[in-house]
Amino acid sequence: MRHLNVLNLVLLLTLPLCAQKPVYLDETKGIEERIDDALKRMTLSEKIGVIHAQSKFSSAGVKRLGMPDFWTDDGPHGVRPDVLWDEWVQAGQTNDSCVAFPALTCLAATWNPSMSALYGHALGEEALYRGKDMILGPGINIYRTPLGGRNFEYMGEDPYLTSRMVVPYIQSMQELGVASCVKHYCLNNDEEYRHNVNVIVSDRALREIYLPGFEAAVKEGKAWGLMGAYNIYKDEHNCHNSITLKKILKEEWDFDGVVVSDWGGAHDMDQAVKNGLDMEFGTWTDGLALNASNAYDNYHLSKSYQKAIEQGRYSTKELDDKVRRVLRLFFRTTMNKQRPYGFLCSEEHYATARKVASEGIVLLQNEGGVLPLKPQGKKILVVGENAIKMMTVGGGSSSLKAQHEISPLDGLKQRLAGISEIDYARGYVGDVTGNYDGVTTGQNLKDDRKPEQLVEEAVEKAKAADYVIIFGGLNKSDYQDCEGHDRKAMELPYGQDELIKSVAAVNSNTVYVNISGNAVCMPWRKQVPAIVQGWFLGSEAGTALASVLVGDTNPSGRLPFTWYNNLDEVGAHSFGEAAFPGIWRDGKKDIIDEEYKEGIYVGYRWTDKQKIKPLFAFGHGLGYTTFKVSNLRTENPVTTDGNMTYYVDVTNTGDMEGSDVVQLYLTDVESSVDRPAKELKAFAKVSLKPGDTKTIVLKTDKRALSFWDEGTNDWKAEPGEFVAHVGDASDRLTCKVKFTFK
Ligand code: BGC
Repeated sequence: MRHLNVLNLVLLLTLPLCAQKPVYLDETKGIEERIDDALKRMTLSEKIGVIHAQSKFSSAGVKRLGMPDFWTDDGPHGVRPDVLWDEWVQAGQTNDSCVAFPALTCLAATWNPSMSALYGHALGEEALYRGKDMILGPGINIYRTPLGGRNFEYMGEDPYLTSRMVVPYIQSMQELGVASCVKHYCLNNDEEYRHNVNVIVSDRALREIYLPGFEAAVKEGKAWGLMGAYNIYKDEHNCHNSITLKKILKEEWDFDGVVVSDWGGAHDMDQAVKNGLDMEFGTWTDGLALNASNAYDNYHLSKSYQKAIEQGRYSTKELDDKVRRVLRLFFRTTMNKQRPYGFLCSEEHYATARKVASEGIVLLQNEGGVLPLKPQGKKILVVGENAIKMMTVGGGSSSLKAQHEISPLDGLKQRLAGISEIDYARGYVGDVTGNYDGVTTGQNLKDDRKPEQLVEEAVEKAKAADYVIIFGGLNKSDYQDCEGHDRKAMELPYGQDELIKSVAAVNSNTVYVNISGNAVCMPWRKQVPAIVQGWFLGSEAGTALASVLVGDTNPSGRLPFTWYNNLDEVGAHSFGEAAFPGIWRDGKKDIIDEEYKEGIYVGYRWTDKQKIKPLFAFGHGLGYTTFKVSNLRTENPVTTDGNMTYYVDVTNTGDMEGSDVVQLYLTDVESSVDRPAKELKAFAKVSLKPGDTKTIVLKTDKRALSFWDEGTNDWKAEPGEFVAHVGDASDRLTCKVKFTFK
């Protein structure tokens, strides 16, 4: 609850005794009425004051009218620790440790929208406690290449999966009066030269692949905030883009929230004024050095804009629209006295982190039933830097100061205390630094032994172990899963391939757990019986991993992206430099044109078209039980409005309770345009006891039948035959049913 502050009180006391409360302060009135009233009372400089930053992460309220400052913070996976008012230096608070939730790749891998709802709620409560009015997340850019440095922060390659997962995150956070700021809108699909990349993409790919997640966030999630991306589209930066922001987001989708610039993403006052930017943050302007103090007056939407209005170069039309949106944000957040209390590091938040982590872990391969471990009295050797390395620090703006983080090794030790004998071998040395922006892990990971010595030690110990569990993969340092750059290759770094091969050669019960937000090459796949995708799991990483490895949790995560064998199988890498990473225009290092030549064929849409069998397919994931998906049927094999309802039976045919993800893909059999072989259009997660069968109901609508028609600039569903394929992975579709759209 917030109480009237002193200024507010003075204002009220100075009103004539008989006067009513000003409308903008009257909570019985609707928000739009309150905005009208507030807007009328604001001076020009007060209006200018609310549309740009006043510190690294805050913008001004309107003190005279009793409207508090507005605070925002990263990021998608937890509330970032505070930096100083005006510098990228830790403020050194003692109350800003947080729960680190699993990265959004893991959330997407749960294929369970109710996990998104739990996630958004817990993160919202942490934000409230920390006095943050808006969280800079979720991030939902599409996974176009496994080299993308920020893929770990996003929800995978599929627009439909992303759309379904993003909506509950936003809704459950905003229910608490904390705004979500969905990012990075749009086409920010790789990191290298992110301020300079001009994306060239067909309208179809834009609408069918890159925008649906944002569209769902706006239309269904009703997001209150959206962050423009750093890069360029049609020669305008995405923080002030006349097409993506003004035309599509605001005119077409009726977005009523604020567009926030990415930090330093605004470059041009005129475009910022006219093309839909509402709040400018992080800008480095007008010759001021990067990160200079008191730069805020020099922002594009600050003094120079005010002066231009005073000189009559602009009317207040655009300004009032921006301020109206900012006020709406205030009334939804800072001025909302119904906001509940916040909690930091509560048991419930840890439980959420644990649940999402355990449910998102993907069992990729399990030859001979090596997993779950049968640990009683066994010798277990744990290998690898990622078994001990804290992963919540690093990676860029999503870096956190976690109250605690349980490493995979500690998680196993806790779970198997008194049951198994656990030993550890380092195996490889990767990144030993462990600090980001002044937050340090406090770990000393230094190990000066030579790579051969580390492998040798692991191999020797592996010979005597009943099981070997290798925790490898990527980390959050530059050129790995980290903001600002892309990976340089898809192969595992630090000589891990050699290590894994050598260990697996001497121990047939080797399990490889890959910690990353991206696919990596696995040339040794056939030599390693069990492979688990362990993501960046946050505070409860070790607990969740142990729970899956031991079998307390029956794994039910499914891949939210296609796991290619190598880069040759990736659409974005099949057209030379022009398609990735792009080519500098006119030989100058100013704009780099990157043409998405694969068009709509991203991920499984591409591998289907090229008849490529990836290492692991989109939607793939095993468990410790087996399921049968059968008897797909529909009552309406002819639809005139495009709506379809399907019924399918799922049976747990194994002997352990578990969850399956039933996935429905549509094929348009007769089409005037080239369409993907199949596209995900519905899914449901179902939990079943051994032997039980449930009938699942799935629905699709007309939009699911449609493609983006570049001729009419609209969605088009063409009459004709369609096929619905249902199963529990994109490469395990066991049932199909035909229907006709008339
Ligand atoms: C990132 C955003 C982040 C912002 C504030 C930018 O560099 O791209 O995702 O929210 O910084 O930290």
